[in-house]
Amino acid sequence: MFLCCWLGLVALIPTTLSTNPGVKVRLTEKGIEYGRQLGMAVIQQKLRSIKIPDFSGTETVSPIGKVQYSLSNMHIVNVGLPKSSVDLVPGTGVTLSIGDAFISLNGNWRVKYLRIIKDSGSFDLNVNGLSIATTISIKSDETGRPAVSTASCSATVGSAKVKFHGGASWLYNLFTTFIDKALRNALQKQICPLVADAVSDLNPQLKTLNVLAKVDKYAEIEYSMVSSPTVLKSSIDLSLKGEFYNIGKHQEPPFSPAAFYLPPQNNNMLYIGMSAFTVNSAAFVYNNAGVLSLSVTDDMIPKSSPIRLNTKTFGAFIPQIAKQFPGLMMKLLMKMEKIPTLTFEPNNATVQATTTVTAFAIQTNSTLSPLFVLNLEASVSARMFVSEMKLAAAVTLNKMDLTLAKSYVGDFQVGPLENVFQGVLKWVVIPTVNAQLAKGYPLPSIGKMKLMNTQLDVLKDYMLIGTDVQFS
Ligand SMILES: *[C@@H]1O[C@H](CO)[C@@H](O)[C@H](O)[C@H]1NC(C)=O
Ligand SMILES: *[C@@H]1O[C@H](CO)[C@@H](O)[C@H](O)[C@H]1NC(C)=O
Repeated sequence: MFLCCWLGLVALIPTTLSTNPGVKVRLTEKGIEYGRQLGMAVIQQKLRSIKIPDFSGTETVSPIGKVQYSLSNMHIVNVGLPKSSVDLVPGTGVTLSIGDAFISLNGNWRVKYLRIIKDSGSFDLNVNGLSIATTISIKSDETGRPAVSTASCSATVGSAKVKFHGGASWLYNLFTTFIDKALRNALQKQICPLVADAVSDLNPQLKTLNVLAKVDKYAEIEYSMVSSPTVLKSSIDLSLKGEFYNIGKHQEPPFSPAAFYLPPQNNNMLYIGMSAFTVNSAAFVYNNAGVLSLSVTDDMIPKSSPIRLNTKTFGAFIPQIAKQFPGLMMKLLMKMEKIPTLTFEPNNATVQATTTVTAFAIQTNSTLSPLFVLNLEASVSARMFVSEMKLAAAVTLNKMDLTLAKSYVGDFQVGPLENVFQGVLKWVVIPTVNAQLAKGYPLPSIGKMKLMNTQLDVLKDYMLIGTDVQFS
C-alpha cells in the first residue's frame, strides 16, 4: 500500500514541479517533409562514400581445379533513393523508410588458374530493391538542446546483378554464384552505420540552438528546452524556457508562465508561440537593470512643437511656476513605478505602464529644483513583427491618465497639463521606446536558418509566429 502510494507520488512529481514553457515551437508535417528532403541529400552523399575493400580467394571449379580470384578497385558509381518517407511515432520518435533504392558499383576482377593462365577485366554490380528502415529518437541533451540518435536500423538488399566485361563465360558463373553474395553482404553491412552517421551529423547543427541568446548589454534570453521534445501524431513540439534574464544574473521574476496551447495549424513548417510571460520577463529584467527611466529635456522635443520644456510653458497652466522660477528651462524625470505588463488578447497586445514624472526647473547654476511629481498611467498598443531572426515591435499610445502625487509649488489642477504630457509621450518617450524595440530580440534559431512566408498573430495569452524556414 505504502509502496503503491509512494510510486504514485513519484510519478506525479515531474508534472507538479515542471514549469510551463514560455515559448513553444512546433515542427509541422510540412517542416518534417522539408527536413526529409535535406536529410535524404545527406544520406545519399553518405552512401556514395561506401568503400568496399578488395577481396580475393580460391574456389575449386571443375574440371579446371583451383581458381584464384581477386576483386579490386571497387567504387560506387551511383546511388538512387527514389522513395522515402518519414513517419512520426507518437511518444517515440521518427521513422525514416527508404524503399526501391539502388546502388551501382564498378570494379576490376582478376583470375589465375592452371598455374599459368591469367585473365582480367572489369565488372559492374547493380544492387536493386534496397530498403532501409531506421528509427530516430529525439531527446533533450544536458544543455537543453535537441539531440537525435538512431534507435534502430535495418537494411535489406533485394537483388544484385553482376555484369562482367572480358574473360571466359564459364568464369561468369563462378562469380555470379558466390561473389555476388559476398558483395551484397559487404554493401549491406555498411548501410546502417552510414545512415546512423548521417543522423548523428545532425547533432552539431542542433547544438547551434541559441539556448542563451544575447540581446544587448543588459539582457539575454534563455531558449533551452524545459523537457524532452514531444512527438505527436503530426508534429514535433518543443517546450522552451523563453525567459529573459539579466546577463549573468538569473533571478526569477515574481510571476510565472501560464499554460498555453498552440492551435492545430499546419500551413507553415514551423510555429513559434511566445507567451506574454516571455515579454513580461523582459520588462522585469530591464527594470532591474535600471534602464526603464528616461529624463526628458527641451532639446529632445521637436523644434516645430509649440510646447517647450520651460517655466514659461508650464507657467501658463501653473502660474506659481512662472512666478517663482521665471525664465528657466525644465527637465522631466520619468520612472517606472511598477514593472510594465503586457497582455495578449486576440488581435490586441496592450502594455500597461505606471510611471512617475518628476518635473524640475533647471537653475542657472544647474541645480534642479523640484516642482511637482505626477503619476502617469499609460496604456499603449504594441504591434510585433519579425525581421530577420528577430522579433521587433512598435508601440502607439492608447490613453494616458495623470494624477498629482506631490507638489512643491502649491495646489494645481493636472487636467490642463494632459496635452503637454500627451505631446511629451508622443514626441519623446514613444519614439525612444520604439527605437529600442526596433532593434529586435533574437528568436530561437538553429544554424543558418532563414525565415520565409512569416506571419504573426496575437492570440489569448501568447503570440503565434508561423513561418517556413530555409537552411543555406
Ligand atoms: C485591448 O485589450 C485591452 C486590455 O488588455 C483593452 O483595454 C482594450 O480596450 C483592447 N483594445 C481593443 C481595440 O480591443
Ligand atoms: C543655485 O541657485 C539657486 C537659486 O539661485 C540657489 O538657491 C542655490 O543655492 C544655488 N546652488 C548652488 C550649489 O550654488
